[in-house]
Amino acid sequence: MTEQQFFEDMKAALGELMPEAEISYKAKLAFRINELKKERNAVILGHNYMEPALYYSIPDFKGDSLELARKAAETDQDIIVFCGVEFMAETAKILNPEKTVLIPAQKAGCSLAESITAEDVRELKRRFPGVPVVTYVNTYADVKAESDICCTSGNAAAVVESLKTETVIFLPDEYLARNVARETGRHIIFPADFHKLEKDNLLDYQMIGWKGRCEVHEKFTVQDIENVRKQFPDVLILAHPECSPQVTAASDFSGSTSAMIQYVQQSDARRYLLLTECAMGDNIAAANPDKEMLRLCSVRCPYMNMITLEDTLSALQKNQYVVHVAEDIRLRALQAVNRMLQIG
Ligand code: 13P
Ligand code: SF4
Repeated sequence: MTEQQFFEDMKAALGELMPEAEISYKAKLAFRINELKKERNAVILGHNYMEPALYYSIPDFKGDSLELARKAAETDQDIIVFCGVEFMAETAKILNPEKTVLIPAQKAGCSLAESITAEDVRELKRRFPGVPVVTYVNTYADVKAESDICCTSGNAAAVVESLKTETVIFLPDEYLARNVARETGRHIIFPADFHKLEKDNLLDYQMIGWKGRCEVHEKFTVQDIENVRKQFPDVLILAHPECSPQVTAASDFSGSTSAMIQYVQQSDARRYLLLTECAMGDNIAAANPDKEMLRLCSVRCPYMNMITLEDTLSALQKNQYVVHVAEDIRLRALQAVNRMLQIG
């Protein structure tokens, strides 16, 4: 394909979303990235939150955390460039010790991953011996290494149910844990409340949570939903399960980023509100020009937004930033990740 054809394709996909001058500038970068990708035998994985010009031009595979982890496990290229945040790139490295895994921005973190340490998990295991630990993939490798099994927003309830135990420790997202507890019919408590329960001998809990929050999804409120419903009575509201249980309960659908994309594709409604990172609304709008995507763009993920076409080009040119995971940690984290991937 020539550079001109590449630009025309991007214009066809994104012409309603951004000015031609921006498409032209980004098409040049993307064209060069795709050339380099072939030269270096690299695969590019792109999370659903990537900005539309990147999302529609360079990833070989796009998806939610679970889909990208599966793709990372299958790839046979020498280099994986992960257009997403650090915990996702780390998961790719855990699955591919022999390959070079690159992340275009060095500090693309995540407030959930920052909310818990490996020592926190060890302390919980000491307090609740024998209780299996389910860890959201939005954690760093050393935390995964202390866990029995990982989960994503796409399979959290299935993972909890697969354990067939009365009680699980579910870390670190408080809201995801509360949403999963509701879905699986379990009670939830937090370690800080545990002594109170112990005194009363009230052991009717089944999930032990942690107070981590996504700094994006925690900001959406039921008031936001009421305001939008008042203004647009026909709107369908989709919320990521990192939103509070009040917000997911007041929404029409809750699911992983890919589940939200599929929901819009399969629904006949004309207007939607997406309670998640704003860029995904642009991506869905581009794929569904007949549907209107409302989104609250005052709330953005600063980490996902660090990943740009410019930095992805630099990543391939300069072989940066290489993701490292210490081998002893990787091997233990791999067990938890593989166990998750085995669940359908
Ligand atoms: P998904 O697994 O649903 O793509 O979510 C990842 C994430 O970080 C959401 O904030
Ligand atoms: Fe982390 Fe939230 Fe950003 Fe997802 S949206 S990467 S959970 S901070």
